[in-house]
Amino acid sequence: MTDARPPAAAETAVQPDEVMFSPAVRTEQACRGSREAYARRAAAGHFARELSAEAKAFIAERDSAYLATASADGQPYVQHRGGPPGFLKILNDHALAFLEYPGNRQFISIGHLAENERAFLFLMDYANARRLKLWGRAEVSSDPELIASLQTSSRRIEHAIVFTVLAWDWNCSQHIPRLVPADPAPDKSS
Ligand SMILES: Cc1cc2nc3c(=O)[nH]c(=O)nc-3n(C[C@H](O)[C@H](O)[C@H](O)COP(=O)(O)O)c2cc1C
Repeated sequence: MTDARPPAAAETAVQPDEVMFSPAVRTEQACRGSREAYARRAAAGHFARELSAEAKAFIAERDSAYLATASADGQPYVQHRGGPPGFLKILNDHALAFLEYPGNRQFISIGHLAENERAFLFLMDYANARRLKLWGRAEVSSDPELIASLQTSSRRIEHAIVFTVLAWDWNCSQHIPRLVPADPAPDKSS
């Protein structure tokens, strides 16, 4: 268990597009004709580690997220996380944190993180047909100050997950069902 820390030097030496596109992915891109375009976008600095102001604002508005983890032997797993807007707290330009609820006590996500820190967050805005992909690593923290800063209720929570972003990208808006909340968000225009 650990607290937020900046990406290690070895991690910052790895470019975001290297995190996103493994050698096998690059081979597929080359076979299917998109490798050169993505290489050009990477060379032009299109893929970043630091979150933009727009990405941070999008994250801060979310009331749910999908967290992907994998066991040491690579078995993937996805779990939904939810809370009031702001439950994904931006810690700095490349990290965010959220509470870890014990739930049904399966502890699959944190079990995976104990042996494989690689993680992925998929954020959907169904109402506005937007989605954001975040590649990174995640750690379980028991820092009481961090947990207190994340809490929105009096429930006793012992752990938080700190997610360090190693790459991020918007996903295209095609095929996202336009789902609107049953409880519309308050009108921000007045
Ligand atoms: C009483 C209760 C309250 C919960 N509250 C939340 C919550 O507010 N936000 C959330 O994302 N998950 C909540 N969960 C679900 C747990 O977060 C989820 O089951 C747990 O993270 C599962 O972890 P795992 O799939 O990695 O084993 C709650 C579960 C229970 C049983």
